[in-house]
Amino acid sequence: MAARHVLTIDGPAASGKSSTAQWVARTLGWRHVDSGSLYRAATFARMQAPGAPETWTEGSVLSGAAGIGLAPVEGSFIPTLGGQPLGEEIRAPDVTAEVSRVARMSGVRQWVNRVVQQAAQGHDVVVDGRDMGTVVFPDASLKVWLVADPWERARRRLQQRLGRRPSDEEIAAETDELVQRDSRDATQTVQARDAVLIDTTYLTQPEQVERIAALARAVSAKR
Ligand code: CDP
Repeated sequence: MAARHVLTIDGPAASGKSSTAQWVARTLGWRHVDSGSLYRAATFARMQAPGAPETWTEGSVLSGAAGIGLAPVEGSFIPTLGGQPLGEEIRAPDVTAEVSRVARMSGVRQWVNRVVQQAAQGHDVVVDGRDMGTVVFPDASLKVWLVADPWERARRRLQQRLGRRPSDEEIAAETDELVQRDSRDATQTVQARDAVLIDTTYLTQPEQVERIAALARAVSAKR
């Protein structure tokens, strides 16, 4: 059997990594692993125990994370807590507000990286996050760095969340939130030197998926 292929998609907040990664994986028939969903699940799990976020220790986050698993769903995975699937609750604003705090804990990063590597083991995979192409899969066959203008990222995220066209005021407030989260995540967000930069500001989702799938096919054909 040919060597397995790993495609990493990293980039700033709400650049469309997860939805693109999932779609690309489906197009290629590969597996998808979303590392951000694990940071979100760990944050959500810690929120179920007492204590204000400022008092959270790495140990208390990791003990909450001990109840987290990954359940395979249609070529991808969803996090579970105590065996129950976690859905939209891990994308709620209160989780998003605290996730960077949890993502800065080195023990939590090691835990996520281990879970991601186990889920990817032995398969052709598309993995997405902030540091997949640098820390977790430095030898990936293809690395993509996905970016978009902050205003456009905010507009897309709101459209998805609200299911309607957001106002300029709403987009402005969301842009501010995204830019602040990018800044909080800056140390763990690392562009690999050998990553292909794709700016999706003026691309539709099918266009960006096709571009990345085409790159993946080109790389696979060489090996
Ligand atoms: O989709 P969005 O960019 O909003 O977030 P996500 O990919 O679900 O990631 C949520 C949070 O997890 C980020 O804000 C980071 O704090 C953290 N994260 C990380 O530190 N490293 C990763 N590889 C993935 C996510």
